[in-house]
Amino acid sequence: MRKIRAVVYGVGRMGSISTRLMLEHGVEIVGAISQSPQKVGRDLGDVAGLGFQTNVTVERDAEAVLSQLRPDIAIVTVSSYLADMYEHLHRCADHGVNAITLAEEAFYPWRTSPRMTAALDALAKERGVTLTGSGQQDVYWMNLVSLMMGTSHRIDSVVGRVSWNVDDYGPEVAKDQRVGDTLEQFEGFLSRGDRPPTFGRNTLDALVAGTGLRVSAIENHTRPETATTELYSSTLDLRIPAGEVIGFTDIDTIRTVEGPVFTFEMTGSVYAEGQRDVNEWDIHGEPELSVVNPVLNTQMTTCTSMVNRIPDVLNAPPGYVTVDRLPQLKYRAFPLGSYVEAG
Ligand SMILES: NC(=O)c1ccc[n+]([C@@H]2O[C@H](COP(=O)([O-])OP(=O)(O)OC[C@H]3O[C@@H](n4cnc5c(N)ncnc54)[C@H](OP(=O)(O)O)[C@@H]3O)[C@@H](O)[C@H]2O)c1
Repeated sequence: MRKIRAVVYGVGRMGSISTRLMLEHGVEIVGAISQSPQKVGRDLGDVAGLGFQTNVTVERDAEAVLSQLRPDIAIVTVSSYLADMYEHLHRCADHGVNAITLAEEAFYPWRTSPRMTAALDALAKERGVTLTGSGQQDVYWMNLVSLMMGTSHRIDSVVGRVSWNVDDYGPEVAKDQRVGDTLEQFEGFLSRGDRPPTFGRNTLDALVAGTGLRVSAIENHTRPETATTELYSSTLDLRIPAGEVIGFTDIDTIRTVEGPVFTFEMTGSVYAEGQRDVNEWDIHGEPELSVVNPVLNTQMTTCTSMVNRIPDVLNAPPGYVTVDRLPQLKYRAFPLGSYVEAG
């Protein structure tokens, strides 16, 4: 068994959790990349709050880290949309480094950013590496639902409802979710017309693509979530007065030529005391089906999904390979390197 050599590209909230998970699964972390002066130059163990030294210094120069260290894989936890992620994924592929990312659009970017995805796919194939997006979408929003759909005789509609706490993630997520906006600022954001794809859109694209159904219409409705009493966001260290934005809910719908309608309602907001994560899907048709997760820790399962996917990425053919083309995600009882096929 060989050890997997990995770089943590983006040492934020998710990168830090994933660092611990990788170390505990026998991955050798050879490098780390971040950008703020508060992190660069420090030991990864300190930045990630591990309580021990890793002897890996957080660096700023991603080019240098990737070209000098030549890791097997980079876990890229930097931002959400392909327009921002393109340079990072391009850089990994260009240096012959496989990459897995949590970027929400990267989960299934074929329809929302086809040109950039095709360019990354071509480069990855040329360099013989694989690029993949994973995260909470992988199992909870796509594969669980997709497997259940496999037990349907007829599907009329699929309806998902999801909620997660913005404060479980870092400032990048809080910024995406417009936490702290006034309602006027939020309306301005919606009306600008340059909004990147919703996280729900990319999830539904993957779900629908797996059925072979043809898309006839795509709809989105977004509503702000506002504080009913003053709320504190620990991620932003910000008190949000009643009436101001604590996140939002996207309702995405994909209609198909053949009839089935897919709807995904996703709320990402700063939680009030006692609120819990939600993942509930109803599949209407014959028979009626539902998937409900009464106990859910989205923050952890986001990272475990990505880390447990690492062997699948290393075993995959080169290219931009979305998870619909990877094997079913498996529990990893042994060091991740033991799941990597020879050659
Ligand atoms: N798919 C999913 O299920 C899922 C779930 C959670 C999060 N996410 C996504 O994953 C991303 C990270 O989330 P998070 O909670 O970890 O956010 P975070 O705590 O804000 O971390 C983002 C990290 O990226 C680093 N970074 C930003 N730009 C960079 C650059 N140009 N070069 C190098 N490093 C850079 C930041 O560095 P500094 O701190 O040094 O500035 C920070 O460490 C977000 O886009 C989020 O939406 C996806």
